[in-house]
Amino acid sequence: MFDFSKLKHPIIQAPMAGGINTPEMVSAAINAGAVGSYGFAYSSPGKISEDINAARNLRNAETQGALNCNFFVFLEKIKYSTQDLDGPLDALRSLDFVGKLELEIPKPPFFLDLETQLEPIWMEPPEILSFHFGVPDKEIISKAHAFDVSVGITATSLEEARRVEQSGADFIVAQGFEAGGHRGIHDPDGDDDKLKTLELIQRLSSSSKLPLVAAGGIMNRNQLIEIIEAGAIAVQMGTVFLTCAESGASEAYKKMLLDQKHRSTVFTQAFSGRPARAIENEFVTLMEGQALLPFPLQNKITASFRKYASKLENPEYQSLWAGVNYPECRKETVAELIERMSWKERS
Ligand SMILES: Cc1cc2nc3c(=O)[nH]c(=O)nc-3n(C[C@H](O)[C@H](O)[C@H](O)COP(=O)(O)O)c2cc1C
Repeated sequence: MFDFSKLKHPIIQAPMAGGINTPEMVSAAINAGAVGSYGFAYSSPGKISEDINAARNLRNAETQGALNCNFFVFLEKIKYSTQDLDGPLDALRSLDFVGKLELEIPKPPFFLDLETQLEPIWMEPPEILSFHFGVPDKEIISKAHAFDVSVGITATSLEEARRVEQSGADFIVAQGFEAGGHRGIHDPDGDDDKLKTLELIQRLSSSSKLPLVAAGGIMNRNQLIEIIEAGAIAVQMGTVFLTCAESGASEAYKKMLLDQKHRSTVFTQAFSGRPARAIENEFVTLMEGQALLPFPLQNKITASFRKYASKLENPEYQSLWAGVNYPECRKETVAELIERMSWKERS
């Protein structure tokens, strides 16, 4: 089991799929003595190898930090037939911005095979492997342990935490309702307890046997101390890293986080088909109540105009994943951010 107490800082720079976690960001977090993570959910094995090597090359030999590689556990059966495409396509094409842009029609396989994605991981095993949206096959967890890799799995409720405990995983990433990005709920059609991060940690610390990593709304040192005192061994922070110099977020996205402090964040399924917390923008508003495809098919049909919006530096049609406390985002480097979170340096 990875020993979190060996880190200089009890911080995991969150995995953030979609180009945010550059090798510069990941290695800077590792070199500062925290955990640097890659969100590899949509990455091919070739890209995974390339990114792991790039972070390795930038990593200081004497660092107390560690690498985490993160993947999604996709639902095996996606309820979908080609007729289901008409409504969602019409909804997108009715938007002026999308208009006549070519949209990618999703075809099977709808996502990359997890075993294939994991092949480069076994070649150069990181210290940690983490999973979002559910529990991977037992064989994957056993294989990770055989390679001395610790496994963390997201849970948003007490029931999900019990599933994680029974899976043989080593720690729970307890994700509260404030968190930015995709809600890690295992069954997207199931009930959501909507527990906030502190309450989730308080409840789990008295019932769970596994170490807890707290995720959601943590942006400053006081919040970190409060959550550690409540029973977490570390925090996983995503939003606060988005505006770091090393972040791969688009300029328009960074500008929204830094300058548009008055906007609210909402859960939307309109970008990907799964609920994710994002800054409310024109696309989110216009898509309310519209027909959508299941995850990750909706993610595919919205990909081309999201990319186009990023090229045009138009934030209204990009997925601006952000936690509720995004107004605390600053322009800083990863090293500066981790340093200002420092509460009790460990030797
Ligand atoms: C832009 C973005 C992308 C994310 N992508 C992933 C991901 O690929 N895998 C994952 O486990 N969590 C992902 N998350 C969720 C984070 O792991 C974490 O739960 C969240 O960022 C914590 O809340 P905070 O954003 O308020 O710090 C993402 C979060 C953001 C903001």
